[in-house]
Amino acid sequence: MSFSIIGTGSGFPERVVTNDDLAQLLDTSDEWIRPRTGIRERRVATKETVLDLALAAARNALDSSGIGPEELDCILCATLRGDYFTPSLACLLQGALGADCPAFDINGACSGFLYALDVADCYFARGKAQKIMVVAAEMMSKLVDWKDRSTCVLFGDGAGAVVLGPGNDLLSIKVTAKGGAELLRAPNVHGNSPFDETEELPCVVYMNGQEVYKFAVSSMQRDVQEVVQQAGLTLEDVNYILPHQANIRIIDAAAHKLKMPRERILTNIDRHGNTSGAGIPALLDECARAGTFHRGDILVMSSFGSGLTTGACVLRWSGAGKEQKE
Ligand code: ACO
Repeated sequence: MSFSIIGTGSGFPERVVTNDDLAQLLDTSDEWIRPRTGIRERRVATKETVLDLALAAARNALDSSGIGPEELDCILCATLRGDYFTPSLACLLQGALGADCPAFDINGACSGFLYALDVADCYFARGKAQKIMVVAAEMMSKLVDWKDRSTCVLFGDGAGAVVLGPGNDLLSIKVTAKGGAELLRAPNVHGNSPFDETEELPCVVYMNGQEVYKFAVSSMQRDVQEVVQQAGLTLEDVNYILPHQANIRIIDAAAHKLKMPRERILTNIDRHGNTSGAGIPALLDECARAGTFHRGDILVMSSFGSGLTTGACVLRWSGAGKEQKE
């Protein structure tokens, strides 16, 4: 027994920041950003907390699933950082929802949502849960250096959520890690221990863009092929790929290598930028509500991120929520 997705949700800050808005703050332009990344605008938190975004996504997902928070057996939050080191974002969310179940965070960076689905799969396999909420929520605007034009233009804030129930819609899943901080990192706060002799590192995202690009394209191609094969399917059976919304050129290059028709690769990076692990579940929610999916469609999710981590899975869509095409 694995799981089925029975509800989806998403939540974003109100404030839209366009490339032209960024050009007022930095030496950059829409002409530079859009062709290299596919990003036109992103949402950036002004008054919202990470919990606000997670809560909005979670409530949407519960509403579309038709279940109440008291029915949840576990809450998993994929996040790089909630509002506090402790309590975890998942615990704060559990309290805010009025749920009564275990809750914990998972840090798999941009692959965090896939890591959380993998953990949820184990709960269902052991019969330890009937309903699990997985929320990925990120506030990248508090992690990037707003003076570094090579990174801050890429990211946005947001959250995506799914409610899972018992079922057999997860056909295969794979997560990987290749540990190291060389290519992509965001050091933690240094603290003020009078005994600490280690170097204080800037507490912002550093990325070697070109090396991450190469890793992303090759790992997406490898992971998608592997999970599709594990599911006993071929790429022709796949209706849609939901890739990590990092950069349209990465997505296009991976699609080209996989020989997947571009219309079967779903994106919303133009409106949201890279929201790290929140990107895939928020895109899933957008497409589910738009009626993109039909019952029985085969969906592939594929992500890569800091760690370096990757994750991919194959799901059969059996129709979360009310907006459903037969
Ligand atoms: N506006 C204007 N100019 C810029 C900007 C900007 N926002 N950012 C960089 N530049 C300049 C650089 O200063 C450099 O100028 P120089 O040649 O005078 O030194 C020039 O543009 C080229 O810079 P590169 O970093 O070499 O640009 P590149 O063509 O590699 O594109 C990019 C950068 C878009 C980040 C690319 O490397 C990329 O797509 N990387 C993939 C990484 C990625 O998208 N990661 C997503 C986040 S990771 C994750 O999700 C886990």
